[in-house]
Amino acid sequence: MTKKFYITTPLYYVNAAPHIGHSYTTIAADTLARFMRLNLGKENVFFLTGTDEHGQKIQKAADAKGMLPQDFADETVPHFKELWKSLNISYDYFIRTTDKAHIEFVQRVLQMVFDKGDIYEDKYEGLYCTPCEAFWTKLQASDNLCPDCKRPLELIQETNYFFRLSKYQDWLIEHIKNNPEFIKPEIRRNEVLSFLTLNKLDNLCISRPKERLSWGIPLPFSPGHVTYVWFDALINYISAVGKFDENGRYESKWWPAELHLMAKDILRQHTVYWPIMLKALDIELPKTIFAHGWWMINDAKMSKSRGNAVNPLEMVAKYGIDAYRYFLLRDVPFGMDGNFSEESIIKRYNSDLANDLGNLVYRTLTMVEKYYQGKIPEGKSGDEKSMAIRAKINSLHNDVGACLTDDFNFSGALEKIWELINAANKHVEETKPWNLAKENKTEELKAFIRLLVDVIRAVAEQIYPFMPDTAQAIKEQFGEKEIIKGKPLFPRIEIS
Ligand code: MSP
Repeated sequence: MTKKFYITTPLYYVNAAPHIGHSYTTIAADTLARFMRLNLGKENVFFLTGTDEHGQKIQKAADAKGMLPQDFADETVPHFKELWKSLNISYDYFIRTTDKAHIEFVQRVLQMVFDKGDIYEDKYEGLYCTPCEAFWTKLQASDNLCPDCKRPLELIQETNYFFRLSKYQDWLIEHIKNNPEFIKPEIRRNEVLSFLTLNKLDNLCISRPKERLSWGIPLPFSPGHVTYVWFDALINYISAVGKFDENGRYESKWWPAELHLMAKDILRQHTVYWPIMLKALDIELPKTIFAHGWWMINDAKMSKSRGNAVNPLEMVAKYGIDAYRYFLLRDVPFGMDGNFSEESIIKRYNSDLANDLGNLVYRTLTMVEKYYQGKIPEGKSGDEKSMAIRAKINSLHNDVGACLTDDFNFSGALEKIWELINAANKHVEETKPWNLAKENKTEELKAFIRLLVDVIRAVAEQIYPFMPDTAQAIKEQFGEKEIIKGKPLFPRIEIS
């Protein structure tokens, strides 16, 4: 069987424009998809992203603009698509939860789970804050006032539909225990396991009465209710890539996903609701759910609601696509939180990109031009230092692959590549090729420069998934036999 790789990002809410946090997950997914396409073949990789468009958040945002939610979503979705284009995101499919096919698929799922008895009707009573549109428990609001806005709460009773999460709790615990790959990184796996072992799961209310919220997928068995947005949105991962046959068996070329990527804010929905939904449908579970950390600004999570969101397009306009992609994947180990600042982008840019990579490429081009009129020399040197660098060239592909496929360790993979770049730069400084030229050591000089060219070719190959344009620019400058010297790749940023 050929190996395949199906990777997803979360479906982002369309209530606000995407910020750096959203771009982070998508760039990480894009890098893995590109890497996998190189290794498994383009036809064996499927990269899914899209937008989450139903529910209260979107309804509210549309109301605030005096628009219908569908029109509002239609207006916002292009911002996501444009951003992904500007960031060189190579998704294979963009799903919207308002797509007709997705809506029908969700209704089919609801009916199947309902018929099976895992969705049931029940009365729901709670303290409700109408302006905030939120339910609170007696424990949370002992004074009968909304903990958020301090207005009086109303005791309301509704009929709703509930999904039997609790029935599958023990099964889920076992699954997580038996499959160490299922939730990553380890810290998140432990978090979910301890939550599940210390708490008894409540069944999940998966409906909203239409009088309270109309913007959602109607329940097929109760047209007076719409579907809770998470029960709708999670299903995208299977609705995008498969169908049910007439017996209710799910068929897909791509499922199960090898990887669902997201940040830790939506870990619970993905590691508790989602696997149980799949289990209720008798569908295989995804292999891995990886929750990375948050981009923060001065130690607060970057988000639209906190008002500290940074627009990725501004960063790209200032520093370029690849410097931006590089910074995000290099500066913070995948899984940890990171503080975002332009100072740190500039620092990385000047040291890693301008100084290390840019300089190696530029000085090599200059030497090939100066000593060989642009023709790439042949030659091999057998000295210890050159041999050590050659060994690094030869193992680079595997080293990068090990970081990416074992641990989704983007920064580790980039470090490996930079070890080679730095070794080559050091080699230049120690060998002083201009002396070889002066001393007429023709063979040594040829071999030396050829080694640098081979380093650069290997680097271009390996940085492609992270920095596709830069890889391409390097490849264009280093032809098979000749070089074509262009402008420096990363001119230094001077800070006043
Ligand atoms: N619509 C749901 C997801 C449904 S998936 C079936 C949702 N949308 S969201 O627009 O809020 O996106 C959340 C995701 O955006 C995070 O999990 C993460 O991928 C990304 N990020 C949003 N803010 C982020 C940071 N500050 N830092 C890193 N990633 C962040 O939740």
